[in-house]
Amino acid sequence: MRNDIQSVLFSEEQLAGIVQTIGKQISEDYKDKNLLMVSVLKGSVVFMADLMRAITIPCSIDFMSVSSYGSGTKTSGVVKIIKDLDINLKGYDLLVVEDILDSGLTLSYILELLQSRSPKSIKVCTLFDKPDRRTAHIKADYAGTIVPDEFIVGYGLDYDEKYRNLPFVGILKPEVYEEADRKVSSDSSKE
Ligand code: IMP
Ligand code: MG
Repeated sequence: MRNDIQSVLFSEEQLAGIVQTIGKQISEDYKDKNLLMVSVLKGSVVFMADLMRAITIPCSIDFMSVSSYGSGTKTSGVVKIIKDLDINLKGYDLLVVEDILDSGLTLSYILELLQSRSPKSIKVCTLFDKPDRRTAHIKADYAGTIVPDEFIVGYGLDYDEKYRNLPFVGILKPEVYEEADRKVSSDSSKE
């Protein structure tokens, strides 16, 4: 698995530092609020698990899952709810927790949907931000760090459902997905 990584962008220690900083800020900002953290599955689970333990005030958690990517590396534009929230949002100060904000299309859809359920407030926290690739009008209220326009994996982020369990974040060697693309096109030309 490690052999498919071109270079490490953030070590385990660096990620822990970023998470601590955001956790402290959120604990301060939400101390008189009714915090509900909503994790967008699956990429944000690792971040969510660490972030909630870096938060020192009471909070609730919930999960939702939408599909936007399939197995490729670019947003398809198609967003579908796979799993909805369990909790009624009335009275909660919602914090949507994302792994990475790329085009922003996924998140803008999710925000519109959650807004219609009348929470007290709604904000966005993303570990990684790729602002160069933004097409939707969206800004994160909390962003761990900016990343270059490269496909990254690890610490929850996947390529084709793999690499989520890497404890660090790295850039995937392009030949890994170029090879997969070649396979897809040669398979489809056989039909
Ligand atoms: P958006 O709708 O383009 O903002 O897509 C956001 C989602 O795409 C994220 O929650 C990730 O699941 C996925 N994604 C975007 N960039 C990357 C990346 O560099 N590595 C892994 N997944 C990514
Ligand atoms: Mg993904």
